[in-house]
Amino acid sequence: MISIRRARPGDAPAIAAVHVAAWRSAYAGILDDRYLANLSEARLAAFYQRAILDRREGHAVFVATAAGQDHPRDAPGGEAGVVGFASGGRNRRRGLGEGEVETLYVLDDYRERGVGRRLMRAMAAHLRAIGCNSAMAWVLRDNPSRFFYRHLGGRPAMHEAIRVAGQGVEQVAVLWDPIDTLLAATAPVKEG
Ligand SMILES: CC(C)(COP(=O)(O)OP(=O)(O)OC[C@H]1O[C@@H](n2cnc3c(N)ncnc32)[C@H](O)[C@@H]1OP(=O)(O)O)[C@@H](O)C(=O)NCCC(=O)NCCS
Repeated sequence: MISIRRARPGDAPAIAAVHVAAWRSAYAGILDDRYLANLSEARLAAFYQRAILDRREGHAVFVATAAGQDHPRDAPGGEAGVVGFASGGRNRRRGLGEGEVETLYVLDDYRERGVGRRLMRAMAAHLRAIGCNSAMAWVLRDNPSRFFYRHLGGRPAMHEAIRVAGQGVEQVAVLWDPIDTLLAATAPVKEG
């Protein structure tokens, strides 16, 4: 069984492990191999611990945890059962979506099971609750996950060149305006 809940500070090491595994998988061939190989779980765990505790600008971190038969025995998010996470809050950049989904990562073995959609729903509901009428996410132009955001109704609103680890890459802002379009696209599937 997979559940979504607000992250606790103790989840930080598991979130960092999922971050490293998901980055190495998603950004292979997009970002520098050495940079990906050198990602530090310890440093990221400290970063996420701060992020979980930081509630400024409505910031929130959600985790997807797996229990029972779904529990990841040898997977990176191991003991805590963390198989994915998302974070975000009020957008720090004005004029491009009132809320921002800053991170969204799901372990490879747990993809295509609705975890990403449920995490996006948790983020959308949270952003709506803190008063955001629209939402956006940045995605690297070469990341196939941009089609996931398109699938959930996000529309490309802007491109820009950035540097990640000293490397020039292009990112695309995907926008849901109004945010209800994201809530509708992530609504739980009705049974029967
Ligand atoms: C993007 C990501 C979060 C999607 O998570 P997921 O759990 O596999 O997605 P879901 O199973 O909830 O998919 C929901 C729907 O989107 C579709 N979908 C999933 N990934 C897709 C993709 N890359 N392209 C197009 N559609 C996609 C699913 O088929 C599903 O469709 P449905 O309407 O038939 O149900 C996951 O692939 C991931 O972590 N990718 C690597 C990290 C990354 O790039 N994150 C984004 C950083 S900006």
